[in-house]
Amino acid sequence: MNNPRDFAAFFRLARPVLEHPLFESQRAYIHHDTTSVYDHAIIVAYMSFWLAKKLTIEADTVVKGALLHDFFLYDWHIEGRKSKKRGLKKHGFTHAKVAYANAVTHFEIGPIEKDIIIKHMFPLNLKPPTYVESWLVYMIDNFVTFTDYLDLYTNLKASLLEYIAMHKKLANQPFSK
Ligand SMILES: [Fe+2]
Ligand SMILES: [Fe+2]
Repeated sequence: MNNPRDFAAFFRLARPVLEHPLFESQRAYIHHDTTSVYDHAIIVAYMSFWLAKKLTIEADTVVKGALLHDFFLYDWHIEGRKSKKRGLKKHGFTHAKVAYANAVTHFEIGPIEKDIIIKHMFPLNLKPPTYVESWLVYMIDNFVTFTDYLDLYTNLKASLLEYIAMHKKLANQPFSK
């Protein structure tokens, strides 16, 4: 699974989102345990990419939707404490819509990517995913959340994030003639 060629193919699809400064800003927001939203979104997108390839599903949409599924852009632990939100106003129920509003403001989002983002919290958000791509990201998101808390796949996660950090740096350097 951690074949560097897979990383390269994933990076090619993910790069336009990965290099957006707002995507980068998610490094500051802790998500699960010690994992940032930035790291979580990348791992979800990579594992979704890997599974999409295995199932011969078009990976572009899966990668973009997965990268942006938690694009809510705040620290939900701090927000939760500050605003003391209750019931249906809690982060778990609302963040998919916030992520979609942010995603559509900053990126071109098609109907499948919208479905991936807006339905990823089913059944907290009542409507189930519509497309096979949305079900795929939905399952991987739940799986990755589980691995974040249990410290599983740590080597794979570390090498993927290292690969991306290295290539983003190289991509940002000016070309020499
Ligand atoms: Fe989420
Ligand atoms: Fe997530």
